[in-house]
Amino acid sequence: MKDFRECTVYEIYPKSFLDTNGDGLGELRGVTRKLDYLKELGVDYLWLTPFFVSPQNDNGYDVADYRRIDPRYGTMEDFEELSREAARRGIGLMLDMVFNHTSTDHEWFRKALAGDPKYKAYYIFKKGKPDGTPPTNWESKFGGSAWEYLPQFDEYYLHLFDKTQADLNWDNPEVRQEVADVVRFWMDKGVRGFRFDVINLISKGAFEDDDRGDGRRFYTDGPRIHEYLQELNQRTFGRDPGIITVGEMSSTTMENCFRYAGADGRELSMVFSFHHLKVDFMGNEKWVLVPTDFAKLKEILFSWQSGMAAHDAWNAVFWCNHDQPRVVSRFGDEGTYWKQSAKMLADVIHCLRGTPYIYQGEEIGMTNAGFTDLSQYRDVESLNHFQILRDKGMSEESAYNILKVHSRDNSRTPMQWTDGENAGFTAGTPWISVNPNCRHINAESQVGDPDSIFSHYRALIRLRKEYAVISRGDFAPLDQADPAVLAYRRRWKGDTLYCINNFYPKPCRWTCPEPLDGCTLLLANYPDARPGQTLELRPYESLVLLRREES
Ligand code: GLC
Repeated sequence: MKDFRECTVYEIYPKSFLDTNGDGLGELRGVTRKLDYLKELGVDYLWLTPFFVSPQNDNGYDVADYRRIDPRYGTMEDFEELSREAARRGIGLMLDMVFNHTSTDHEWFRKALAGDPKYKAYYIFKKGKPDGTPPTNWESKFGGSAWEYLPQFDEYYLHLFDKTQADLNWDNPEVRQEVADVVRFWMDKGVRGFRFDVINLISKGAFEDDDRGDGRRFYTDGPRIHEYLQELNQRTFGRDPGIITVGEMSSTTMENCFRYAGADGRELSMVFSFHHLKVDFMGNEKWVLVPTDFAKLKEILFSWQSGMAAHDAWNAVFWCNHDQPRVVSRFGDEGTYWKQSAKMLADVIHCLRGTPYIYQGEEIGMTNAGFTDLSQYRDVESLNHFQILRDKGMSEESAYNILKVHSRDNSRTPMQWTDGENAGFTAGTPWISVNPNCRHINAESQVGDPDSIFSHYRALIRLRKEYAVISRGDFAPLDQADPAVLAYRRRWKGDTLYCINNFYPKPCRWTCPEPLDGCTLLLANYPDARPGQTLELRPYESLVLLRREES
């Protein structure tokens, strides 16, 4: 059985991974085809974003049937083959379960629409206010009201995301039973892990107007959330200690995460939190352009590291996923220091306390989409928010510039396998444009190159398995006030690890507040790096140092 602290998870967005049948969409067979590449990288688990039957209004996060595979992604036989072939290479599959909501095409919602009271009770229907406006002023995460009116009932239903993603009513025990049955169905198919989509939104509290925000404080980490997670755990994955779980926690608090991801294993193995990725937002508002607040980034990363460690709770650590812009474009450099910055950002994450997650293409330093025309955008969230910004009077150019930075499509362009036609992703027309920089950013050119970003990620994955100080060590920030350097220390038994990073293109001098005698270099992103008490750090320079005490 694998210890998830020593593991690395790789996220695959199948639609953009590899197309093997020329329809322009990636599918499960494409993943199977690339298992040797993933094995070479060294990852332990593949998190596959949803490939279940779905109208694809939110690329599969709108599930219409939890037990069937959308024909666009393949068949159950394709899934079984992938699972078998992955297992043969020591890789486990993690499925992405979307249980906060279903597609309005789901049979349950269709029955609800037909007036069946059993299924109406699966969702959240409410009367409007006396003046006919929605029950509360809550906003959908994708823009507009979170309520959709149905004239046949003179009622609204709740959708925290798109109006085709209706929120399930977890207070109904029948819904919780259905969910557990689905989880068991996939456990029986040999799945080794689950990622639970926006799972901390499932327990709704009071349905009241929010005079301070968009409504999230009424349904985030809601009143019965821990009870529901413990129940699901006991009914399903908690019975198999080999299964790992990660919860996507939207706008959560650390106190709740101590419980979600506690070492007692009563709820989940680990959690994704997102506060460190809001440092280029204005509060919770992402559709703005503001510079990255580096001090805040450090403060958030470090306080979560220390806080979770102090409570023996476990983080999933990451920069990238299918909802985030590419990190090298966001916090690094797409130009001169592309390679150095991509490696530095990798070191920052992979030496932390937590299980690291890599998002497809991150390991070769893929950049933001670089779209040049609005018609290239596909994501419902981007398109809705573009319209909202325009309706507020913003010029098309300004709204477009915001999309360029924050759109989720930045990470959804096809995986860049080669420097050839469509980056080797498809022989057909890709569903979303390929980034033309595949000419110089592609997997083929990096796999055999010992100096590549790919090789650097592979080294980090190995080091985590080799050195318990990385997988188990404690955590302490170093020189938190420094305006350019992000540095921390980890300790385990006789070993001490230092991870020291210049986060900027400007060279800087940095003196470690702790003596570094006896340290040797474990990894660096410049070939001639040298440890020293005072370091002249070059642009984006990163050093990982280790001291071992003789025992
Ligand atoms: C999660 C997913 C995102 C999706 C949303 C609604 O945040 O990662 O892609 O749109 O949930 O299911």
